[in-house]
Amino acid sequence: MKVLVVGATGATGQAIVRELQSRSIPLRALVRDPAKAQTLLGAGVEIVPGNVLDRYLLVDAIGDADRIICATGARPSLNIFAPLQVDYLGTKNLVKAAQTKNIQHFVIVSSLLTSVFFHPLNLFWLVLFWKKQAEQYIINSGLTYTIVRPGGLTNTPTSDPLVMAKADTLSSGRIPRSVVAQVCVEALFIPAAQNKIVEIITSPQAPSLPIAELFLQV
Ligand SMILES: NC(=O)c1ccc[n+]([C@@H]2O[C@H](COP(=O)([O-])OP(=O)(O)OC[C@H]3O[C@@H](n4cnc5c(N)ncnc54)[C@H](OP(=O)(O)O)[C@@H]3O)[C@@H](O)[C@H]2O)c1
Repeated sequence: MKVLVVGATGATGQAIVRELQSRSIPLRALVRDPAKAQTLLGAGVEIVPGNVLDRYLLVDAIGDADRIICATGARPSLNIFAPLQVDYLGTKNLVKAAQTKNIQHFVIVSSLLTSVFFHPLNLFWLVLFWKKQAEQYIINSGLTYTIVRPGGLTNTPTSDPLVMAKADTLSSGRIPRSVVAQVCVEALFIPAAQNKIVEIITSPQAPSLPIAELFLQV
C-alpha cells in the first residue's frame, strides 16, 4: 500500500501525513509548494509538486501510489470561483486521474452539512454546494470511496470519544484534525468503510468504541 496525500500542506493534510508516518505506511505528498512542504512535513516525505486544477499532471503525480486521501479545500478568499475550482473541479480532476491509475480506495475529507443548500457556510461562494457535487461525482465514479464529513475542525487534542453517523444526520459539533486523520487512514483498512459517507465529531457523552466498529454501525 502507498498513499497519495493531496493537500498535504493543509492543517488536516499534515495530520494525515503524520498519521501515516506513525503507522509506517508509505506515502507521497502532493503539494503546490514543495519548499513549504519540506519545511512543514520534514525531510523524509516524498514530495510531488502538483495542483488539482492541472488535470494532466495528476496522473504522473499519483505515480506508484495505489490509494488517495484528499484533504484539499479552497481557502477563504475573494475569488468567487475558488470552491467551484478546488472543491469541485479539482476533485473531479483527481477522480479522473485516480480512475486512469486504477486507485483502489479514494478517501476524501468533505464536511458536515453539504446537503443543506440554505446554510450560512454557502455564503462562502457555495462551498458546501460544490463539496456536495464533488461527493456525488465520486459516488458515481465507480471508485471505491470513503467520504468523511467532519464537523468544525480544531487543532486541540481531546480525549472525547468519536461519534460516527450516517450521511445527513449531524448538524453541529467539532472534531480535532488528528482524529479526522485517524478516521481517514483507518478507512483504508476496514472493508465496512468502503463506499460510505460518514459524518464525524467528538463528544464527551459518546461511548468509546473502536473506529472499525463505528464504521460497521453506519
Ligand atoms: N475548517 C473547518 O472547520 C472545516 C470543517 C469541515 C470540513 N472542512 C474541510 O476539511 C478540509 C480540510 O480543512 P483544513 O482546514 O485542513 O484545510 P486547509 O488547512 O485550508 O488546507 C487546504 C489544503 O488544500 C490545498 N489546496 C488548495 N487548493 C489546491 C489546489 N488547487 N491544488 C492542490 N492543493 C490545493 C492547500 O494547499 P496550500 O497549502 O498550497 O494552500 C492546502 O494544503 C477542507 O476541504 C475543508 O473545507 C473544514
